[in-house]
Amino acid sequence: MAENLESVLKENRVFEPDPAFARAARIQPADLEELYRRAEADHEGFWAELARSELDWQKPFTQTLDSSDPPFFQWFTDGELNVSANCLDRHLDTRGDKTAILFEGENGDVHRYTYRDMYREVCLFANALKAKGVEHGDRVIIYMPMIPQAVIAMQACARIGAIHSVVFGGFSADALRDRINDSQAKAVVTADGGTRGGKLQATKKGVDDALAGGCESLETVFVYQRTGNDVDMQSGRDVWWHDAVADQPEECEPARVNAEHPLFLLYTSGSTGKPKGIQHASAGYLLNAVCTTKWVFDIQDEDVFWCTADVGWVTGHTYVAYGPMACGATQIIYEGAPTVPDGGRFWKICQDHGVTIFYTAPTAIRALMKLGDEFPQSYDLSSLRLLGTVGEPINPEAWMWYYSVIGGERCPIVDTWWQTETGAHMIAPLPGVTTMKPGSCTRPLPGIAADVVDEDGNSITNPEQGGYLVVKKPWPSMLRTIWQNPQRYKDTYWPMFDGRFYLAGDSAHKDDDGYFWIMGRIDDVVNVSGHRLGTMEVESALVAHPQVAESAVVGIPHDVKGEGIFAFVVLKGERPEGGIDEALSKELTDWVAKQIGPIAKPEAIRFADNLPKTRSGKIMRRLLRSVAKGDEIEGDTSTLENPAIIDQLQGKI
Ligand code: PRX
Repeated sequence: MAENLESVLKENRVFEPDPAFARAARIQPADLEELYRRAEADHEGFWAELARSELDWQKPFTQTLDSSDPPFFQWFTDGELNVSANCLDRHLDTRGDKTAILFEGENGDVHRYTYRDMYREVCLFANALKAKGVEHGDRVIIYMPMIPQAVIAMQACARIGAIHSVVFGGFSADALRDRINDSQAKAVVTADGGTRGGKLQATKKGVDDALAGGCESLETVFVYQRTGNDVDMQSGRDVWWHDAVADQPEECEPARVNAEHPLFLLYTSGSTGKPKGIQHASAGYLLNAVCTTKWVFDIQDEDVFWCTADVGWVTGHTYVAYGPMACGATQIIYEGAPTVPDGGRFWKICQDHGVTIFYTAPTAIRALMKLGDEFPQSYDLSSLRLLGTVGEPINPEAWMWYYSVIGGERCPIVDTWWQTETGAHMIAPLPGVTTMKPGSCTRPLPGIAADVVDEDGNSITNPEQGGYLVVKKPWPSMLRTIWQNPQRYKDTYWPMFDGRFYLAGDSAHKDDDGYFWIMGRIDDVVNVSGHRLGTMEVESALVAHPQVAESAVVGIPHDVKGEGIFAFVVLKGERPEGGIDEALSKELTDWVAKQIGPIAKPEAIRFADNLPKTRSGKIMRRLLRSVAKGDEIEGDTSTLENPAIIDQLQGKI
């Protein structure tokens, strides 16, 4: 932990919010104090009041929090509402003609959808889903490029009470098949393709490959025509989106769903080989999505909001598909890569569409920073008023670049800590109020009881000491369980402290001002470009290759991706000379991309005769991490079964 501490503590300056921003902000210092005071005085009452004022209910709730079966907490249990109605219907009278989504394709095509357009499109597709037999509680997989139809499909599911599970379009057919089967999905929504990085993203082909491997629950594949490339349509199973909606009514009554009805599943990596289906409920999730969009993004009616995340990740759920829509905001959706045709694309979009709030990942900031200041400097970025980051700690150098070159030293930066499991921002500054420290996500939001504790669950007060990041009280948008696996939910998130606190899986420390500094994961999860990958997932993919006997994967620092993957591999046959074989490394790298997706590709592979294990057979990952980073091996290696292996792992012999 000590070494991580040093790396985040390089920039000691603090930054006060710009006075002009602060004057116009939605939340003023006194408002924030009041929010904290109310949350502190009555945690449940605080959230109940917000749930009543921020959400439209079909049937009001009378019970706020049901804690009768911890850790299976329920919020607003006897209430009923519809999430899609909260995102669309509520705006028709006041903002029907306001732009909801301004879409730009990688090739430059621009489409504008007003709130009324979105309402119509969502109703049409909701009716199409129903016509194909998709019912309340059925699972629908969405596997699409980053186009508005992905959001329309999500909202349509919400409208009829179907449970969506978006699978990132960059994931492999195998990964898609696992998710279809685990969720027992009845339908898949996809597109003929999309364009990213100048290449065709053949999503329909991915679906075909996934289904060829056997998916018994699957009945219908909806295919949106985006690129017009040739695709195979299997009759009786596949239907074009435009045909499916052709005869449907333009109105679809929003289903009344219980507050606790699952809104979506989102698969994420953990410390086993099998991704887990994080299950979110309807009302509680939406409540935190709305509150944080207002508090942390300071969304106001004239804003043009752009969150660059793909809908395949939780950020694209909360801050593309739901939060901004529920707040009636105007937002940008961009289909493609940030570097097409060149490293100025993001900045050109900001200029062309007058983006005011821009939210992205540190990895994107670092990648764009490397391309030089000329790109941002050749565009007018004066419309920007607020910047945000998410997904991993931001290094002070990238923070400073973002602040000065992109934000012109006038835009506050909101560094938002949260997770797929938390549903919405948990620890983040309030722009205009909170003093910023580069690299810190600052303080927990009102109503979020986050803390840093030691092994015994005691709060750590020493600013030099790291500990476990926990949340001590339930909050509305918390995950409800892992799909079909309540035991894994308990074991993963509530294993310590007698099950009293939610264990986030991160280590952190708090400084003298109570600011949180995230230090990294405590489990076997690597954060590659802000995306979580389980080391065991990559190991399972590697050992599925016919030549691989065993493998161990660790994270290594990477200057753009934050972390990269380093794989140690034991072959069934002979170890190559010096532990390096470029051709086989390439083959294995491509193999992993095919099994999981390109984001899981190892940066480097080293071959060894065996892996360093303790006498009880446990792989010594600490040692592998040092080897991968090229560090000296420190600490005790006396428990190692085969000490001679170290030289080989280091590539010395
Ligand atoms: O380790 C933390 C890191 O990303 C993890 C959550 O990953 P995921 O569920 O994929 O969600 C990412 C988008 C919300 C966390 O456990 N993380 C996320 N945000 C930050 C962060 N680490 C440091 N600072 C952040 N702002």
